[in-house]
Amino acid sequence: MLIAIDGPAGAGKSTVSRALAHRLGFTYLDSGAMYRCVGLLSLERPGEPPATLAAGARIELDGNGRVRLDGEDVSEAIRTPEVSEAASRVAADQGVREALVAKQRELIAAGDWVAEGRDIGTVVAPDAALKVFLTADPRERARRRAVELGANEATVLAEQTIRDERDSTRAHSPLQAAPGAVVLDTTGLTVEQVVERIVGILDRC
Ligand code: DC
Repeated sequence: MLIAIDGPAGAGKSTVSRALAHRLGFTYLDSGAMYRCVGLLSLERPGEPPATLAAGARIELDGNGRVRLDGEDVSEAIRTPEVSEAASRVAADQGVREALVAKQRELIAAGDWVAEGRDIGTVVAPDAALKVFLTADPRERARRRAVELGANEATVLAEQTIRDERDSTRAHSPLQAAPGAVVLDTTGLTVEQVVERIVGILDRC
C-alpha cells in the first residue's frame, strides 16, 4: 500500500510523513532528497547535463533521514540553501524527473510506503491508496522552515516564494494536487493533529 503526501515546502510534509510512516509501520520515502542529491551533483559537476547526473547517481535513503550519494553520507550537505536552489532548478528538467521517477517506482514496487514529494500522487503513483495534498499559509511555512534551518524568516520567505513559483509553473510535473487528493491545510495544526486526520481519512477509505 502507498500513501502519497504532496505539497509545497514547509507545509509539514517531511515531519508528518515520517510520523505517519512510524505510526502505520510503513517505510518513508523522501523523494525531495533525491532531487537534492542531483542538485548537489550539479553544483559539484556543473559541466555535466543534470539528466546524466541523475541517471548515474547511486542514491540510498535509509528511511530515517540519512542519505548516501555514491557511497558518501550527504544527509547534511543536501540541506543547505545553495542545494535547495539547485534542487529546484534540476527538478524542472524532464530528463532528471524521468530518471528519478523510475528510481522511485522501483523502490515502491514492493512493501508499504508513505511517499513524500511534489508529484507522488500525480505522476509517481497515481493509483496510491490515499493521496494527501498538504498546504499551509506561506508565512507559517517560511516560519517553520526558518526555525528548522536556523535562518532568517524574511530571507526564507523570499526564497520560498521564488521556489514555489518555479515548482508550480514548470512545464513538467508542476506542483499541484492530484485528482482525488484530500487537501489538508496544516496552518495552526500540530504534527499529531495532522497525522490523526490522515489516519481518520485512511480508516474511512
Ligand atoms: O521537498 P524538498 O524541499 O526536499 O524538495 C527539494 C526540491 O525538489 C524542491 O524544489 C522541489 C523538488 N521536488 C520535486 O520537484 N518533486 C518531488 N517529488 C520532490 C521534490
